[in-house]
Amino acid sequence: MTHEQKIKLLEQKKEEALLGGGQKRIDDQHKKGKLTARERLDLLMDKGSFEELGMLVTHRATDFGIDKEKYLSDGVVTGFGTINGRLVYVFSQDFTVFGGSLSETHAEKICKIMELAAKTGAPVIGLNDSGGARIQEGVVSLGGYADIFHRNVQYSGVVPQISAIMGPCAGGAVYSPAMTDFTMMVENTSYMFVTGPNVVKTVTHEEVTSEELGGAITHATKSGVTHFTAKNEVECIQQLKKLLSYLPQNCEEKAPVYPYQTTSSEIREELGKILPKNPNQPYDIRDVITNTVDEDSFFEVHKLFAENIVVGFARIAGKSIGIVANQPVYLAGVLDINSSRKGARFTRFCDAFNIPLLVLVDVPGFLPGTDQEWNGIITSGAKLLYALSEATVPKVTVITRKAYGGAYDVMNSKHIGADMNFAWPTAEIAVMGPKGAAEIIFKNEIKNAANPEEKLQEKIDEYTDTFANPYKAAARGFIDEVINPEQTRIKLIKSFKMLENKVVNSPKKKHGNIPL
Ligand code: HXC
Repeated sequence: MTHEQKIKLLEQKKEEALLGGGQKRIDDQHKKGKLTARERLDLLMDKGSFEELGMLVTHRATDFGIDKEKYLSDGVVTGFGTINGRLVYVFSQDFTVFGGSLSETHAEKICKIMELAAKTGAPVIGLNDSGGARIQEGVVSLGGYADIFHRNVQYSGVVPQISAIMGPCAGGAVYSPAMTDFTMMVENTSYMFVTGPNVVKTVTHEEVTSEELGGAITHATKSGVTHFTAKNEVECIQQLKKLLSYLPQNCEEKAPVYPYQTTSSEIREELGKILPKNPNQPYDIRDVITNTVDEDSFFEVHKLFAENIVVGFARIAGKSIGIVANQPVYLAGVLDINSSRKGARFTRFCDAFNIPLLVLVDVPGFLPGTDQEWNGIITSGAKLLYALSEATVPKVTVITRKAYGGAYDVMNSKHIGADMNFAWPTAEIAVMGPKGAAEIIFKNEIKNAANPEEKLQEKIDEYTDTFANPYKAAARGFIDEVINPEQTRIKLIKSFKMLENKVVNSPKKKHGNIPL
């Protein structure tokens, strides 16, 4: 072969690889409103930055005549490049090749870029579109999945791992995303389930559509499996890029700092107008957040799941923070199983990747009831308590209103290691709300009174005056400063700056045992 022929052969092979499973299947993919694996990468990566690895890989299986059907790249495009100038590793599954199913070689390609990512300290992004284990390969394919799962776990907390679900993901295809840090799903074209509707029907006799069983909205609202949903693939990729902008490259680094210019005084008068006069009326904690952090910087995570707690990223004076905040608009901001799980998982991510935490507190307590108790609110509430206690990043708390009972302790109290604890003058910090407290401790006095209702009100007022304020806690030093709400932003800017070089030496151990 001449040199020219050799170059031509290479070009032919590359052209063949670019076609994946062939034009017809590409057209089918487009008809479903989906992009191809390579089109997705074009949207995700900085122009011209993507370097592909393993383009000429083919599978090695032979059963069921599959050796006669080989496609270059074997159903997954892998490589590295940059997003907004920062190095990332990426794999993008190609549904046009055996439905993006995972073969031994497909798995090896993914493992290779995961290993490079861990060695060089950069995020791994997976664009998932896969029918699960390649059925013709049997246990070899299962082994391939397990190889990926093992690396997901080894590199968890080392580099950020993000999964975008852009098609049907069944069987093994859902467990790797479940072990990554964030999952995003595209509405109407992506599904995640361990077993699909047909198996469900056979086993449980339930009739359910793919969308109901494992669509984006189902996982965003009911299971919490996905942290984000997007109307289409383009929006999904934009969200992914935005998410990355808040994250460091790895656990040794800090998140990128964005240019920030201080505006006159940093006083935010709006913050003084958010709380309703009646302490039992709700208000949207997002109004407190957006008026406190840098303009347009709040990026909510897990927005549709356990809405009684709000979590998300933002920037304060150009630097990333993670926010965990009770949401009075939904179930009065009570802590329950799902909100505790949501808050705990987000807290652990921030702690693993050096993102300081801001905790906003307005919580009446834990949700009572058999449903909660029987489903383990004790263990789930303990997850949030554990996660916030364990976190060693800078931790700042602002109590806006209620901080009652065990929830006071849990929500980043001084006692579990918060560095700065602020309270607004409207804060109520006590064992329980005034009515419940009065009914218990003055039970006999109220019962024997000439007018029990009047007596109850008198006792409620007495308890309110004594305890429903921040001053007992401030007198003890549990609150560092009671602040005018308008000063919240400036206090946070100064606190996070002061805490920038915080170092904690934890007791030596293998790892803790979070109540899972
Ligand atoms: C090999 C597969 C495949 C698979 C799909 N294909 N899934 N090939 N192994 N797992 C092929 C099809 O034969 C077809 O090939 C092409 O991909 C497109 O599939 P369609 O069925 O035509 O597409 P669609 O109607 O969109 O349905 C997509 C799907 C469905 C929902 C993913 O294909 C499906 O249910 N697949 C099987 C899912 C599954 O049960 N996987 C195994 C899970 S067990 P042609 O040649 O026609 O293009 C598992 C174990 C790991 O993963 C557990 C670890 C914990």
